[in-house]
Amino acid sequence: MSTTAYPPVSEHLDDVEAARAEGRRKMDWALQHMPILRALREEFEAEKPLDGQTVGMAMHVEAKTANLVELLALGGAEVAITGCNPLSTHDDVSAALDANENINSYAVRGVDEEGYYDAIEAVVAHEPTVTVDDGMDLVHAVHEDRPDLIDTIVGGCEETTTGVHRLRAMDADGALKYPVFAVNDTPMKRLFDNVHGTGESSLATIAMTTNLSWAGKNVVVAGYGYCGKGVAKKAAGQNANVIVTEVDPRRALEAHMEGYEVMPMEEAAEVGDVFLTTTGNRDVVVREHFERMKDGVLLANAGHFDIEIDLDALSDLAADRYESREGVETYELADGRRLNVLAEGRLVNLASPIALGHPVEVMDQSFGVQAVCVREVVENADAYEPGVHDVPDALDREVAEIKLAAEGIEIDALTEAQEEYMGSWQHGT
Ligand code: NAI
Repeated sequence: MSTTAYPPVSEHLDDVEAARAEGRRKMDWALQHMPILRALREEFEAEKPLDGQTVGMAMHVEAKTANLVELLALGGAEVAITGCNPLSTHDDVSAALDANENINSYAVRGVDEEGYYDAIEAVVAHEPTVTVDDGMDLVHAVHEDRPDLIDTIVGGCEETTTGVHRLRAMDADGALKYPVFAVNDTPMKRLFDNVHGTGESSLATIAMTTNLSWAGKNVVVAGYGYCGKGVAKKAAGQNANVIVTEVDPRRALEAHMEGYEVMPMEEAAEVGDVFLTTTGNRDVVVREHFERMKDGVLLANAGHFDIEIDLDALSDLAADRYESREGVETYELADGRRLNVLAEGRLVNLASPIALGHPVEVMDQSFGVQAVCVREVVENADAYEPGVHDVPDALDREVAEIKLAAEGIEIDALTEAQEEYMGSWQHGT
């Protein structure tokens, strides 16, 4: 049952039964390739670590996320979920989740700004005791609109770099009133999801959306962080010539030593064929860059918010604007040059009409970490002060061990002598 006037997804759809069946099919396919979540399902179902908890979530509602949601419900929680981006929801998956009596899903693809925030409000109205965010919109809503809930919230988890940045800023201001795990920052998440996940899925989505090749293209990657590294590596692997723009001298040097060209965006703008922003920052590609670009370039963003490419400035410059393919909007300038924007400048690997998000295996890892972190905030709530917390290393290792076991990979173990040696400072030459 919904607790606010804002209706769950099932009330937005014409053929709910068909949507649920298709959503379930997508979830089953993903689960077949998620050994970590399957192992945790057995544990959560048997031990019910989340009994009595209400988990509020704002995440990309698609098949992989849905398997995390069901895992939390199997662990004994009531779950209320909505999207963390207006374009990344799969309505059929959202409907399949909403059919579960312990889950309410308010996520609907293509909602306007008002609908987006109404849905977040609807999740908060369930009075969560745990929050799971991708971008921090839920933590923000709780602190702004329902501070009365803070005393009963045991903790939260944050999935992405931008959310962790926002949380750390909030924490530095003394404004964050409950503990939140920086799930993004764990090795099992960031080294795989941000790097391989963003790299593979962004490039695949762009190629499928445009039917264009990477080979021989000048691909400009803005930001050489975890996501940028993945994008650059995979683009180079597809025979593109990679150009990196950066503001951090060490990251720029890393890109240079990897063999990529490094230059300011002002120069890259003149030679790039494809521009992909991965900075988590604003105004990365702006008017002065559009003015220099070649006819036919592709502009896409993989950062969390749609503020990296200045579309207002591009609209001002454009003499005409039209949808040239599904998921591609062409801005035609007065001199006839056409600049093609994918997925409205929102994160392309999730917001494009054909987007499927990260590969399943990668999200199995990220969501495995999410699940054990939710279990941890519930079981050991008193151990964590309000603020941002690193995920305990033992939890990250637990997820890695489950995955290795599922893959049938064995590794060596430290001997006692090795352990003693590594922990000692007395040994010299
Ligand atoms: P990061 O902090 O590792 O890397 C960002 C890089 O951008 C840094 O090296 C920084 O120096 C650089 N940068 C900042 N401003 C810049 C500018 N004006 N021009 C050029 N470079 C600039 O962050 P990470 O983990 O790579 O995440 C980047 C963004 O992607 C975040 O918004 C994150 O939330 C999002 N993300 C998106 C995913 C997706 O599925 N599309 C998956 C994971 C993260």
